[in-house]
Amino acid sequence: MVRYERIFFWFSAGMLAIFLCALGYVTVFMNIHLPGPAGRIIPKSGQNCAAAVLTTAPFNRPGVREIAPGKYEAVMLAQQWNFYPFKIQIPAGAELTFRVTSVDVIHGFFIPGTRVNMMVLPGYVSVETYRFTRPGSYRLLCHEYCGLYHHTMSAEVAVK
Ligand code: CUA
Repeated sequence: MVRYERIFFWFSAGMLAIFLCALGYVTVFMNIHLPGPAGRIIPKSGQNCAAAVLTTAPFNRPGVREIAPGKYEAVMLAQQWNFYPFKIQIPAGAELTFRVTSVDVIHGFFIPGTRVNMMVLPGYVSVETYRFTRPGSYRLLCHEYCGLYHHTMSAEVAVK
């Protein structure tokens, strides 16, 4: 190996080793993981995905409920091409947990300006919690292409 080749090789190998250590460190000591499915909805035989979702709790009763003082849960459905419920109202400072699934295809679930950013897959449950401290109207967008009217798919989180 020529000199520069050797330098390049060890520099690259060193970077890989550093990144691997960093990955191990955040996984083990900081408990940071890739988001995984929070649950599954498996259709019974002869049942399609939509029927399975609509008959499985809590998705048979979508909506927003207060689960503890200052804590809310929004059980939501994503479908071509809207979210249900399409308007959520919570007081400022409240912590909101989104529990979402899709009844048809893959959708996105993204609120700009927050860290709420998920994929919503049919058959899987996606969960994210966020505290809305500032009052205002937050737009919830689908950011996975899901068909002809993908660009119209949105909902609103109104923080009063
Ligand atoms: Cu739903 Cu794009």
